[in-house]
Amino acid sequence: MDLLAALEAQVKPYRNRFPSHARLPATGRPREEILAEIAAMQEAEAPRWREGYASGAVYHGDDEHIAFLNQVYALHSQSNPLHPDLWPSAAKFEAEIVAMTARMLNGPETACGTLTSGGTESLLLAMKTYRDWARATKGITEPEAVVPVSAHAAFDKAAQYFGIRLIRTPVGPDYRADVQAVREAITPNTVVIAGSAPGFPHGVIDPIPELAALAAEHGIGCHVDACLGGFVLPWAERLGYPVPPFDFRLPGVTSISADTHKYGYGAKGTSVILYRTPELLHHQYFTAADWPGGLYFSPTFAGSRPGALSATAWAAMLAMGEEGYLEATRRILAAADQIKAGIRQIPGLQILGDPLWVIAVASDTLNIYQVMQEMAERGWVLNGLHRPPAFHIAVTLRHAQPGVVDRFLADLRAAVETVAANPERQTGMAPVYGMAAAAPPDMVRQVLTGFIDLLYRV
Ligand SMILES: Cc1ncc(COP(=O)(O)O)c(C=O)c1O
Repeated sequence: MDLLAALEAQVKPYRNRFPSHARLPATGRPREEILAEIAAMQEAEAPRWREGYASGAVYHGDDEHIAFLNQVYALHSQSNPLHPDLWPSAAKFEAEIVAMTARMLNGPETACGTLTSGGTESLLLAMKTYRDWARATKGITEPEAVVPVSAHAAFDKAAQYFGIRLIRTPVGPDYRADVQAVREAITPNTVVIAGSAPGFPHGVIDPIPELAALAAEHGIGCHVDACLGGFVLPWAERLGYPVPPFDFRLPGVTSISADTHKYGYGAKGTSVILYRTPELLHHQYFTAADWPGGLYFSPTFAGSRPGALSATAWAAMLAMGEEGYLEATRRILAAADQIKAGIRQIPGLQILGDPLWVIAVASDTLNIYQVMQEMAERGWVLNGLHRPPAFHIAVTLRHAQPGVVDRFLADLRAAVETVAANPERQTGMAPVYGMAAAAPPDMVRQVLTGFIDLLYRV
């Protein structure tokens, strides 16, 4: 079976449904026509996320919340934080988002940071910062980072981009970082270790107190990737859920990433990177003193940036408030508890580890990718995982709507029954996942390159 052809089969039918535009129209088209075309595409895809068929992806999604964010975006759509003289509001929004997030995560007085474009940028920046900090303060020229295998792929991206040697350490049977393995992987070139709160694949929280202590002992950085959990765990803790310490209350934690565009409920395109001290943050900044274009500085990777997105993140945080986040978390965790209880009653399925609301499901007896495919045929967009084969659902407010959990569990029971009755059947994406899990990584990388080409060519 040709993996790329299977992926192409997923993309092609959609492309053929809408007019193609491979060159500029000779004259501009009427705005109403363009709006109608865009609306048609939106209407085709919105029901799935709106009705709670997606894992993660849209974390709030109530109509009124979206309308509010859209209003805020419209007001600031021309804003660019690169020009604080023209848009002082953008810098104010970002400074206040950082301050509110730092306080939520128990940052000390010195805590500081920047708004970024998303979790990946926050992690890339953190890794670049530790590389440059270690070079400047310790003379380390061959930097290494130690990161559990479960930590996000953005760590690999950072290692590739910034010439950092990434050492991936194993997780234990509970899918949490193996602290002893991290300890053994630390060398004199290690600049940072990282843990996730929680990690993307299995939704479990690494033993951050132990990792932070290890980092403090070695005088190196400890980054906590709370992209997924930063805006959930503080409220889960208040609600009495078992949340181990993961934030700046641990003295060894030197930086934390937390995504405003996930459970912060802002529009897509923002995240926060926080550091314990400005000394670290300063290694993130870029400044140019002798460029003919004038005095230039930027806190993150991009030059010009969408100030409107900063405004929506700020507005979302103010509109939610502590009570709003607490209530949202209560609803999400209640839905997740129901989902976990339901899954535990389905013969053949197991939940991996002990997650709070990002729930990974595997099976010893069934082809789990075919279960995921059967769910896809019932409209669900879940996340396929490998090593071990599994899928997960990241529970959001969309799943806390009436009836969604029951529908998920009913569909999952039906999917499992279908797979159990037809153990040889492999359809849709099931064989793709199966082969990708078994194929050599170089081959899979080639396929993925082909897939990116496919997606971004007319
Ligand atoms: C734990 C974790 N870290 C980082 C990221 C990357 O975030 P983004 O997709 O916003 O770049 C994700 C995304 O799901 C995540 O779950």
